[in-house]
Amino acid sequence: MRIIVHTGKGGVGKTSVSAATALRCAEMGLKTIVISTDTAHSLGDSLEMKIGPEPIQLYDNLWGQEVDARYSMDKYWWRIQNYLINVFKQREGLDDIVAEEITILPGLEEGAHLLWINQYFETQEFDVLIVDAAPTAETLRLLSLPDASRWWFERTMNLMKGMTGRLLRPLAKPLFGTDLPEQEELDSVQRLFDTLSKVAGLLANPELSTMRLVMTPEKMVIKETQRTYTYLNLYGYPTDSVICNRIIPPEVTDPYFSAWKDSQRKNLDLIGEAFGGLKVLKAPMFNSDIGGLDDLRRLADALYDSTNPSQIMTSEVGTHSIEHDLETGDYLLRIPLPFADKTDLDLYRSADELTVRVGPYRRNIVLPYALWKLETGPANFVEGALQIRFVNKQTE
Ligand SMILES: Nc1ncnc2c1ncn2[C@@H]1O[C@H](COP(=O)(O)OP(=O)(O)OP(=O)(O)O)[C@@H](O)[C@H]1O
Ligand SMILES: [Mg+2]
Repeated sequence: MRIIVHTGKGGVGKTSVSAATALRCAEMGLKTIVISTDTAHSLGDSLEMKIGPEPIQLYDNLWGQEVDARYSMDKYWWRIQNYLINVFKQREGLDDIVAEEITILPGLEEGAHLLWINQYFETQEFDVLIVDAAPTAETLRLLSLPDASRWWFERTMNLMKGMTGRLLRPLAKPLFGTDLPEQEELDSVQRLFDTLSKVAGLLANPELSTMRLVMTPEKMVIKETQRTYTYLNLYGYPTDSVICNRIIPPEVTDPYFSAWKDSQRKNLDLIGEAFGGLKVLKAPMFNSDIGGLDDLRRLADALYDSTNPSQIMTSEVGTHSIEHDLETGDYLLRIPLPFADKTDLDLYRSADELTVRVGPYRRNIVLPYALWKLETGPANFVEGALQIRFVNKQTE
């Protein structure tokens, strides 16, 4: 099975590329499903079919689904959240709005998409799963959810576990104005978060998953795409290609477009340099918008020619790696963060966890057992990667 996630700035062509790629895979005989995680779904329009929150077959070998973000995610969560709000209000004297703010877990609503990804992985009913993701910010929130929620959840769960004992239960209502959540509810939330972690693992597995960055050859779009690439690397999600859409074709000779063409040419060079290791796939600006199977086939032809889009495009996928220096016993953790701003980067270490913050995004990397007892040595930025040495004191 192959999972392909298309992400990128708003309006660059994610939905069209997802639909075209899915159609191409299906027509090559691969059993394919394309799911849209954007709340403003337009996948159905692109494929000229009505698509709903449950998967439906659209054509031979091709299924589609527009995931409903609210689906089942808050079934149990709201009770736990309610309870926490009351605890914070009563115990910490916080006002309503602040109490509510801290109990909101960003991205949780969108987590339903991850649960579907998990289901399709479990059932293995498709050869290819294509994700038409929401514009960058939401997708990053979604992809960081397993990590953020684990961090957040472990702490609140511990807090709550201490209070769910028999002694406290009868006191809960008078104290906090609400019953404690039942064990069953806590367990299902725990299971939910476990599944989210598992999906993060699936998406971070380069044998299984790949992220593709859709963009247009415009300066601002390139900048944002570079930032996205950094954050994807931060979370260890492998990217194998960039898809450059809406390139004005050579047959357009109207002088009105000549400045546009010049700047696109320069920006295409920039893309080649900036995303060095990644394959750059290109599609022209068509003479009208893309809708329906014929248009999608034309787009797929431009992007993939006769190759199979479900194949990995480059093996230079940037995920973090750990090397063991047998001589010193040191370990070197390498996290590729191309384009990261060194001045906007923080690092915290607890025994079993390393927290890297780049801009507004934070990543908790659970360290392998071998690293727990080692001290964090110097951190350097080498060739677009953050390198952190874990020093084995015993041999020093
Ligand atoms: N290469 C192209 N040539 C002409 N029109 C295009 C091309 N690529 C996309 N379009 C059109 O541009 C519009 C936006 O494309 P699309 O919906 O695929 O982008 P998106 O990235 O999914 O947008 P959103 O962020 O809103 O979800 C659509 O009307 C689509 O038909
Ligand atoms: Mg879209």
